[in-house]
Amino acid sequence: MKLAIVGLGKMGSSILEGVLDAGLLSPEEIGVLDASPELTQKRAARYGVRPLDLEALAGAERVLIAVKPQDFPALAPRIAHANTGYLSIMAGVSTRTLAERLGTRRVVRAMPNLAATIKRSTTVLTALPEAREAGDLAFAERLFATVGSVYPLKEELFDAFTAMSASAPAYLALVAEALADGGVKMGIPRDKALKFAAEVLVATGLLLERKHPAALKDEVASPGGTTIYGLAAVEARGFRAALIEAVEEATRRGKELGEG
Ligand SMILES: NC(=O)c1ccc[n+]([C@@H]2O[C@H](COP(=O)([O-])OP(=O)(O)OC[C@H]3O[C@@H](n4cnc5c(N)ncnc54)[C@H](OP(=O)(O)O)[C@@H]3O)[C@@H](O)[C@H]2O)c1
Repeated sequence: MKLAIVGLGKMGSSILEGVLDAGLLSPEEIGVLDASPELTQKRAARYGVRPLDLEALAGAERVLIAVKPQDFPALAPRIAHANTGYLSIMAGVSTRTLAERLGTRRVVRAMPNLAATIKRSTTVLTALPEAREAGDLAFAERLFATVGSVYPLKEELFDAFTAMSASAPAYLALVAEALADGGVKMGIPRDKALKFAAEVLVATGLLLERKHPAALKDEVASPGGTTIYGLAAVEARGFRAALIEAVEEATRRGKELGEG
């Protein structure tokens, strides 16, 4: 068994689906285990992978840990095996804590985001040297590439990454909602306003993959036109400062949670 996935919630299930859809591993090479035996059986039947118990998990070459951070301390001693490589997506759990609790230095820490459910995650990775040597990091790169893009990042920047990328769907959802409210205020029906807002966010994201943000903004804002008036209004309200502060505050909170 090349991979065992522990925790079959939103993220564990999305990664399982990504790996199978991409053909990275075949169903026979994957085992799954959730706290709920019913869910374990259900997912195993749906995807043709092996349902596991803790004993069978010992045979896995690598284990992806996709349970909530608060469930990890109780789980760790039960899944700890000397010759296994571990990949964790748990928010705020450092490679040091992983290594201590799992009793091995073959650990990779990954931070994906909710867009893994639609194969558009941005995932960052860091690993201890032993995990690099054992090929666990290279395996993790291939694994997370099945649900989006993957970048290496120093572990000390993980909280900042979480604050600016993993949390960003929440900030941008507020932008969409506020734009729709503006549209409604100006008389556009709510359902249409919400669609318009969502579509322009998607389109802007695609354009930003090709253009610098400042260039995009300058293209839309013609001299004396409507957009520059709108921009002046948001600047007067401290739009950029609010977002910069959001990232700073969320980073600070991430560090606080990591220490607690
Ligand atoms: N959601 C995100 O956007 C996101 C982004 C980046 C990273 N993450 C990280 O990904 C991890 C999973 O998040 P999620 O949103 O997928 O959570 P989730 O939907 O709650 O899934 C976690 C699953 O693990 C199961 N579980 C709990 N204890 C277990 C155990 N001892 N053995 C096996 N399975 C166990 C849970 O079962 P019960 O429900 O019965 O407890 C649940 O089915 C978290 O650590 C989170 O920090 C999440």
